[in-house]
Amino acid sequence: MGKAWVVLVSGWIGLAALAASAHEMGHEMGHGGMMMHGMDAGPMAEDGRVSLHLAAPMRMMQKRMMREHLAAVQAIVGLVADGRFDEAAKIAHEKLGLTPAMKKMCDMFGNNDFRTMGLAFHSQADELGKVLKTRNLNKSLRALHSVLNSCVQCHARFRQ
Ligand code: HEC
Repeated sequence: MGKAWVVLVSGWIGLAALAASAHEMGHEMGHGGMMMHGMDAGPMAEDGRVSLHLAAPMRMMQKRMMREHLAAVQAIVGLVADGRFDEAAKIAHEKLGLTPAMKKMCDMFGNNDFRTMGLAFHSQADELGKVLKTRNLNKSLRALHSVLNSCVQCHARFRQ
């Protein structure tokens, strides 16, 4: 029996599994993945998050930007682990900070709460950049934690 059949007959569980399998990039529709997303998310269309009603080109652009945010965080963690705080700070400011381009981007989503959360996130990234320059590992991790908290908060509240 193929995966497609399983999705068709198992209703919302199938949907959740499909979402999970997409997230796991090609892994099988495993039970673990299904549980992970099924527990608090439920069906994708009714998971309680506010939709931004983005048009297709905007969806593409936003997701690309998001993947760049994730890559920036990944780079920062690696650099901090190597004690390369100044380079990490540069990435925090340039890739995640409140640059004019980022500010403009946050204005484009047509949702004021989203905009506020976005701007706060970018300001926190600038704060992270400042803290990284002190080369204090504990404080840097705290600041990174705050930045990641902004990611988590916004993802819990909004979807495309
Ligand atoms: C102001 C809101 C906001 C902030 C802050 C935010 N995101 Fe997102 N992110 C979103 C939305 C909305 C989506 C689309 C979610 C959906 O439609 O299910 C998204 C999607 C993503 C995706 C999926 C991309 C894809 O290709 O599908 C990744 C990865 C991601 N965000 C990473 C991050 C990281 C890492 C941070 C913090 C460093 C972050 N985001 C901060 C709103 C935000």
